[in-house]
Amino acid sequence: MKIAFFNTKQYDREFFDVANQDGAHEINYIGPHLSLESTALIKDEEVVCAFINDCLNKDVLESLKQKGVKLVALRSAGFNHVDLAAANELSIPVVRVPAYSPYAVAEHAVGLLMCLNRKIHRAHNRVREGDFSLHNLLGFDMHGKTVGVIGTGKIGKAFINIMLGFGCKVIASDMFPDQDCIAAGVIYLPQEALFAQADIISLHCPLTPQTQHLINANTLALMKNGVTIINTSRGKLIDTKAIIAALKTAKVGLLGLDVYEEEEAIFFEDMSSSLILDDVLSRLLTFPNVLITSHQAFFTREAMQKIAHVTLTNISDFERDGSVDNTINN
Ligand code: NAI
Repeated sequence: MKIAFFNTKQYDREFFDVANQDGAHEINYIGPHLSLESTALIKDEEVVCAFINDCLNKDVLESLKQKGVKLVALRSAGFNHVDLAAANELSIPVVRVPAYSPYAVAEHAVGLLMCLNRKIHRAHNRVREGDFSLHNLLGFDMHGKTVGVIGTGKIGKAFINIMLGFGCKVIASDMFPDQDCIAAGVIYLPQEALFAQADIISLHCPLTPQTQHLINANTLALMKNGVTIINTSRGKLIDTKAIIAALKTAKVGLLGLDVYEEEEAIFFEDMSSSLILDDVLSRLLTFPNVLITSHQAFFTREAMQKIAHVTLTNISDFERDGSVDNTINN
């Protein structure tokens, strides 16, 4: 099929060109994000391939329909950026890549946690300046700490297994407790109890109306002083202004973020020669105990191979008989 591939980066081309070596599809790589304006770049493509920071609201979907687009193929697991009700109304199926590498995201969460804990980012800068001192680099043993995991799906489970390997006590919150986790010794608790008991909290639930601003002034107040919070899930799970206030009082001791509430216009782009006009993000960047990565948790070779393969397979399945296992709407 002809695919309008929005928001293309060089690494997307590399992996999708390999996955499409048999020439099954004709991919038109387009640089800009998908937006109402950029739908003008669609020629006669029947499929739009989009990423998490593309806009798929009602107006955009209506424009896609008018242009004859028959399928939206997300090259992501998350779909909170798609107006599914509008897609249903317009009869545009939306497909996604439900699982590519839970290990990629879980391992990145651990990377953020360990880098913050042992201050590896600061030590790296320091030794490059010829400063081999240890002051302010004190960390803590992971062994014996209580780790609270919110969302024990594919990524949460992979994260839990690593934490159990460190010798941590793992407590979790999920409305569907996982039997493997329970067998491995994970204790499920209501969220309030998890907040009160955890030394480290890692978020692995999707963004939904129920989980938006899950971490807010009220829930932060329930937590231990000096708590470590890691978010590799979605930025809007955290009320960023509330967490900045909690960083200022040292309620939050360490904060690792791979996602940010207002990341759409900033993350994935080289802004090194631009002004960053987002004052909230700029404030976050000033804290020595905050580590931010630019939504890169998914970004491993294995994950990219799987994303490219599953996305193109979804499109081939749709082309064959219109039915795709990974469809997320009716
Ligand atoms: P999953 O669907 O396997 O697991 C999500 C779990 O969260 C489920 O067990 C669900 O019951 C639970 N959950 C839903 N609402 C909850 C709530 N209110 N409280 C507690 N638990 C709740 O999803 P998976 O693959 O583990 O992905 C999790 C999230 O990770 C995705 O929704 C996405 O936002 C994020 N993600 C981030 C990436 C990155 O590069 N930073 C890449 C891929 C996913």
